Amino acid sequence: MTETAITASGLRKAYQDKVVLDGIDLDVPNGTIFSLLGPNGAGKTTMVNVLTTLLKADGGTVRVAGYDIATETRKVRSAIGVTGQFAAVDELLTGEENLQLMVDLGGAKDGKRVVGGLLERFELTEAAKKPASTYSGGMRRKLDLAMTLVGRPRIIFLDEPTTGLDPRSRRTMWAIIRDLVADGVTIFLTTQYLEEADQLADRIAVLDQGRLVAEGTADELKRRIPGTHVRLRFATAAELDAAARVLTDATRDDETLALRVPGDGGSKSLRLLLDRLDEYALSAEEFSVHTPDLDDVFLALTGHTTEVAAK
Ligand SMILES: Nc1ncnc2c1ncn2[C@@H]1O[C@H](COP(=O)(O)OP(=O)(O)OP(=O)(O)O)[C@@H](O)[C@H]1O
Ligand SMILES: [Mg+2]
Repeated sequence: MTETAITASGLRKAYQDKVVLDGIDLDVPNGTIFSLLGPNGAGKTTMVNVLTTLLKADGGTVRVAGYDIATETRKVRSAIGVTGQFAAVDELLTGEENLQLMVDLGGAKDGKRVVGGLLERFELTEAAKKPASTYSGGMRRKLDLAMTLVGRPRIIFLDEPTTGLDPRSRRTMWAIIRDLVADGVTIFLTTQYLEEADQLADRIAVLDQGRLVAEGTADELKRRIPGTHVRLRFATAAELDAAARVLTDATRDDETLALRVPGDGGSKSLRLLLDRLDEYALSAEEFSVHTPDLDDVFLALTGHTTEVAAK
């Protein structure tokens, strides 16, 4: 296999006159996690569908696992696994039967062992004999990914794998994804969660109005967006004035009587900040720590929020 798992150059896709992908260039090295970040309607699923040959591109060239998606479709398909945004699980079958179905479709030799192993790895052994219609959203998501793994693909596309999952299930999913990469698998992952991309991805790209408006490591992107800050809201304008004189690096918002104090959000710096307020006998009505979210990223990188991006 080539060193690069996925490359795209000048990739274009439109639905009638609506351009969704407007010249995308990509380069995802083998054994890494690439995350495509974007709000609803940005074109993430469209991109996954094109890269996985489910949808034909209008222009540009794409190679996946070294094969051209337009002329070597079959070879591409045999090298990849796809877990779509909406679970491909058959509700009427049990978890075990769903996995067996993938084995029967030619996914694996030694089927019984593979199915048993996957059920265990995804903590689905107990539920294995129950119909998937009785599974929770998180269990369904896990089963869906397990089904993708039956054929041991080297490149896996995950379209919003943790949307709608609770924090614990999200962490389980992250651990599974990390294990796959430790085994040398390449992951192309779409997400609406900045934190998820930050946690998992070697490289992140931000999709906005058909183009990748930023690409880099999580740290590189973070340097371009406003950082963590503490927001202090005061009861009166006089208190706001007094606090602003003490906390000179803060930016003030007179309308909401609030101060925005940059910092890392760690306990040490929070204590220092509170001590400082104490020292001057100041007290805030409200105190909150903000970490940047997708909206902050969009505002910083594109000058507009995610809602505009989705239009
Ligand atoms: N089959 C289709 N025909 C026409 N327009 C479509 C079709 N599929 C998607 N679109 C449009 O293309 C744009 C991108 O859709 P896409 O599903 O790729 O977004 P997404 O980033 O996956 O969003 P989400 O986060 O909601 O899953 C949207 O404006 C959508 O309405
Ligand atoms: Mg989508």
